[in-house]
Amino acid sequence: MQADFSSWAAAHQSRFEQVLQALLPPAGLAPQRLHGAMRYAVLDGGKRVRPLLAFAAGELCGADISRLNIAAAAVELIHAYSLVHDDMPCMDDDVLRRGKPTCHVQYDEATALLVGDSLQTLAFQLLAEHRLSDDAARQLAMVRLLAVASGSRGMAGGQAIDLDSVGKALSLPELENMHIHKTGALIRAAVLWGAQCGSVSEVHLDRLDHFGKCVGLAFQVVDDVLDSEADTATLGKTAGKDADHDKPTYVTLLGVQAARDMAKRLHADALDSLQEFGAGARRLRELADFIVLRKF
Ligand code: IPE
Ligand code: IPE
Ligand code: MG
Ligand code: MG
Ligand code: MG
Repeated sequence: MQADFSSWAAAHQSRFEQVLQALLPPAGLAPQRLHGAMRYAVLDGGKRVRPLLAFAAGELCGADISRLNIAAAAVELIHAYSLVHDDMPCMDDDVLRRGKPTCHVQYDEATALLVGDSLQTLAFQLLAEHRLSDDAARQLAMVRLLAVASGSRGMAGGQAIDLDSVGKALSLPELENMHIHKTGALIRAAVLWGAQCGSVSEVHLDRLDHFGKCVGLAFQVVDDVLDSEADTATLGKTAGKDADHDKPTYVTLLGVQAARDMAKRLHADALDSLQEFGAGARRLRELADFIVLRKF
């Protein structure tokens, strides 16, 4: 019998914590303050949704777990870097992340800046040191995908739009564009990467791409809803800060109920794109459920 979703996720999360522990520079290695701060920002926290998506897509496509570990780590390092920078005073100016003081509060701003820089380059270092695909051309395409998903045409670009949108009323397509970039791009890359660590036809990759886009956008829609509805203790980050900072979100544009409805539609669309995969896509379906129904 297969494990239920929470046991499956917990087993991956605890194994993956050991993977990250081993891949990050030891805290005792010079420069100790930077290495300690990198470990502080990455370890012992977070839902690990992107790694779980990579593991689920990889399991569907018969990928080797040692390859998935590296792929998932690279994506999570980029994500952790994006959170450290997102929280800095020049961006969202937040003091709480994953139930702990944010990196720049616990350490200092310059260290937080360097933590982001170093986590990002460590992600790409892993891709130069480990094989993710037997096909060298595919590996190169995967590296490119992560670079594009993280850079000015992906996450960083979405963050630029976010900062530029403070106090403005965006249209729905503009808001969608911002969310697809700042959050959707990396989530989409996590799904595609998991699949590409294994063996997948172009048609199936296309279906998984659609799945990744839908859950990626849904993830940020739900993040916006939780920011307005959940409490700080449950979230482990400051609730209500989008309204405080006058950020346009799905909630400010549509209201909570319509934002939730939108997440439900994206969820249905995501599940539709998995139809031809049968039972093998169980974990991806469960992750889509988690992304939309989560309370934190
Ligand atoms: C928070 O991401 C930032 C967004 C992209 C919405 P997560 O909700 O995945 O944060 P952790 O990793 O679980 O802390
Ligand atoms: C952040 O979006 C997206 C990133 C690329 C980090 P938010 O600013 O809404 O994320 P939280 O709510 O601080 O986690
Ligand atoms: Mg932000
Ligand atoms: Mg933020
Ligand atoms: Mg948010």
